[in-house]
Amino acid sequence: MLRVLVLVSGGGTNLQAIIDATASGKITNTQLVGVLSNNKTVKSLERAKNAGIPAVSVSPKDYADRAAFNDALLEKVDSFAPDLIVLAGFLVAIPEAMVHKYSNRIINIHPSLIPSFCGVGYYGLKVHEQALKRGVKVTGATVHFVTEGMDEGPIIAQKAVKVEDDDTPEILQKRVMEQAEWILLPQAVDDIANSRIRVENGHVKRS
Ligand code: GAR
Repeated sequence: MLRVLVLVSGGGTNLQAIIDATASGKITNTQLVGVLSNNKTVKSLERAKNAGIPAVSVSPKDYADRAAFNDALLEKVDSFAPDLIVLAGFLVAIPEAMVHKYSNRIINIHPSLIPSFCGVGYYGLKVHEQALKRGVKVTGATVHFVTEGMDEGPIIAQKAVKVEDDDTPEILQKRVMEQAEWILLPQAVDDIANSRIRVENGHVKRS
């Protein structure tokens, strides 16, 4: 059983997609061992508790500086002994020490077709605002492994989503979640749990 720890910052709809897919058997060989938020009052912690998954928060506000927070975050992550860490809308930069310790064992969902609309400053609704500003006709979502550079790791899967003429960022965000994110992320967890993918020379291969 793959021990999966999910890191969240906000509403947790991607977390819910993973919880539901695990309950329905779409994700197999997986145990959701914990949910960690950098935010004490988010809906995600409630979603975790409702599903009987241990939920904890580690807030930067409780630490003197970033280094102290990063140490506490890694310590808390380690305490779950995860095989896979899933960033499901976790909007905190992952400390370098954690990236190294969990190399090829951290995945992230991003709400665009990387390398478009990604990197520093591109998160959540901002991604969709920029996509609409640029006037793209197709956007989507990407699941990738996490490396040091933001949104630069090996791509596991991508799915395109059509942009409609009268989209607002909120409407586009919802469509990208429904048509791409909530499908791609559980699928990637299941693929990893069942050893269907591997990283070779910085690229993801399927077996
Ligand atoms: C999702 O759209 C996710 O792709 C995005 O935050 C949202 C979280 O929603 N992540 C990023 O932008 C990471 N750069 P959720 O809390 O409802 O899953």
